[in-house]
Amino acid sequence: MASSGVPHGGAYESGPGGNERGSEDFVRYYQAQRIVPDDEWEAFYGRLLTDLNTTFRIVSGTLHTDFLRSFVEDCRRDALESLTSDPELAKEVQFTTIEWYPDHLAYDVAIPRPVLRKSPALKQFHEFLVKQSEAGTIFRQEAVSMVPPLLLDVRSGHTVLDMCAAPGSKTAQLIEALSKPPEGSADSNSSNREPDGCVVANDGESRRAHMLIHHLRHLSSPNLIVTTHSAQFFPHLFDASTGERLFFDRILCDVPCTGDGTLRKAPSLWNRWHLHMGLGLHKLQLQILRRGLKLLKTGGRLVYSTCSFNPIENEAVVNAVLDEAGEALEVVDCSDELTELARRPGLTTWQVLWKDTWYSTFDETQGRVRRKVKPSMFPPPPPQEPHASHRHTQLRRCLRFFPHLSNTGGFFVCLLEKRAAMPWDSFPDQAATSSTTEDAVGEGQGEGEGGEGVTIDTEENENENDDGGAVEGDEEREGEREGEASTSEAQPAAKDSWRSQEDFMSLKQLVQQLSSADGRPCGLWDRIGMPFGLPADGDLLDALFVRTPPSDAPKKVWYASSRVGQLLQRIGKSPYKIISVGCPAFERVSTGGPYRMLQHAARWLLPRIQHPSIAAAAAEDDVAKGTQQVVRVGREELGLLLAKGEAGKMPRVSMKDESLPEGLRGRLESLTREAPFLAVARGPDDGGGEAAAMSIVLPGWCGRQNVELMLDDNTRYALHALIHKHTSKTQSQVE
Ligand SMILES: C[S@@+](CC[C@H](N)C(=O)[O-])C[C@H]1O[C@@H](n2cnc3c(N)ncnc32)[C@H](O)[C@@H]1O
Repeated sequence: MASSGVPHGGAYESGPGGNERGSEDFVRYYQAQRIVPDDEWEAFYGRLLTDLNTTFRIVSGTLHTDFLRSFVEDCRRDALESLTSDPELAKEVQFTTIEWYPDHLAYDVAIPRPVLRKSPALKQFHEFLVKQSEAGTIFRQEAVSMVPPLLLDVRSGHTVLDMCAAPGSKTAQLIEALSKPPEGSADSNSSNREPDGCVVANDGESRRAHMLIHHLRHLSSPNLIVTTHSAQFFPHLFDASTGERLFFDRILCDVPCTGDGTLRKAPSLWNRWHLHMGLGLHKLQLQILRRGLKLLKTGGRLVYSTCSFNPIENEAVVNAVLDEAGEALEVVDCSDELTELARRPGLTTWQVLWKDTWYSTFDETQGRVRRKVKPSMFPPPPPQEPHASHRHTQLRRCLRFFPHLSNTGGFFVCLLEKRAAMPWDSFPDQAATSSTTEDAVGEGQGEGEGGEGVTIDTEENENENDDGGAVEGDEEREGEREGEASTSEAQPAAKDSWRSQEDFMSLKQLVQQLSSADGRPCGLWDRIGMPFGLPADGDLLDALFVRTPPSDAPKKVWYASSRVGQLLQRIGKSPYKIISVGCPAFERVSTGGPYRMLQHAARWLLPRIQHPSIAAAAAEDDVAKGTQQVVRVGREELGLLLAKGEAGKMPRVSMKDESLPEGLRGRLESLTREAPFLAVARGPDDGGGEAAAMSIVLPGWCGRQNVELMLDDNTRYALHALIHKHTSKTQSQVE
């Protein structure tokens, strides 16, 4: 057994908020597990006791992408230049692109507070980042946590499952990956095209699943479905009419874990760290991975990842499925991927510790120990034993990221490819059983103590570690669950205990139901689509969704991509606990009046509008007063509109406002009064790249005298910055 004690150079340090850093047990445990070579231990542990830099990535494929990249580059240059007179200060600042992240969209920044106070350029940049992260144009995310979605190789057209998705930073990457044009496609302008594919983001805790919806709302993705199931019981998908089983092309299994890889970011975890942490979650992690592999199509890929150093949560889980699956499963060799990011291979040997005794094989355990220590926790036999050498090779293909290698947090990633059906995949070809397990288990047993409230500007919101609390008492809960899980797959469908969950139906179904009730066509579409000149065709009605139970005046309507629509149609009245579909599209504002179109879906709905006013808007200013629903505005005109009205409210301008340019006033006067409209502006030309060709589409409301743009404050800020390309100008004008 390895020696214990804090090594030289790794004294206890006090972190922000006075958290003590370091733990003798941690040192004892991980030195014995040899997670890093002996001669690297000091570097590893020393770095683990230090703060983590801020890392963020710019959301790809949006109007803002090119602008933000060039803006951040300008800021970086200005800020570093402003420090040249003070080389000592400059030495303390780090501001670099993360080399291995595609398209130079991710950054690594460390600016000590005293430097921030002394450099107005950096202070301004810091404020800009906070605002942009509120507007959802950038995500603050640990660098190594960006790896799993990158390795998953999600492509346009894929159906993807993110099994443990909240708070959603990796889900966002999966959605962005769908927007990339298919390989070999001539269409390089991905932003104008509605992405093809579907991401099902699931989290076992419904509160956290709702938090994910909040975090990802600015992506306005029509490709997203959010569900809330315990991942280990995620229902199988069936075609409702044929009974055929449906599978996912890609699955992300970023499981709940003890999270000691995040100790630099969340030093308070040092106080909770203890020797048996990993044991409590192993079984759940294995159950989730097994379920994921079952839901994956043959030939499909799955990433299993944790932010833990513990082999019991990492290689042991992978080893167990490799052992069970044999040739049907392979760990993909990723040595050619993200090569600038230093990593170490997966472990092939480790031990299991229970109450001060280390066990190398399950056979060494006896009696009560076996209640805690399971066979699946142990490493494969030595490579010289029959069939073991292959497993060793496979495990070495796992990727381990350590703080001292690239100044990051810790992470474990394993990319698996399913070659054939899993041996545990025998499944009755009937949809009837698909939801039974969880129904039997019931609600309220989600792992993890959950996260904080719904705010977006702090790293803590993205804390992948806040499920670490699952360790407390989870053995009992797992016991219950396992007992039920083992019997329930064979049971007939349980009663609809999920009925209380929100569910969705297509607008087409709703319109049909409402129309057939009294034999007359229902007038709902007259209030939703007609005011915008949207055709009442089946395609569009199939892409719009409302919550059940059916109502003749639904409060909200969502818009989803055709792939999402098709999937929901195929699975029919399903056992899935769906809490969100696509992005918000329309909202009822008054009883009987027209619905308001929401900004999220405006971009996707505009191409479907067949209104004469679009043609009129494209022509010059010569249109009749009070007749139009679409108004064309120039980029600078849009900048003017965004700055009008009170700070913190929606931009609002009087049509009589003399400061408006003549042409713009004329065009605003062409809008139909007391009706919704869309303002369409070209994207920023000087940002270059794909954004130049994109349109900004903003919904608005035209009253008797005033015109309002329906934008929340953060979007207003982000757009204003986008147009004016300068933060201080933006802030002083908007605020
Ligand atoms: C490591 S975090 C996921 C981080 C996320 N992938 C991201 O990148 O933002 C694990 C998540 O799993 C959820 N969780 C815990 N137990 C679960 C279960 N049995 N099934 C599904 N989700 C679960 C937690 O609520 C937590 O949000």
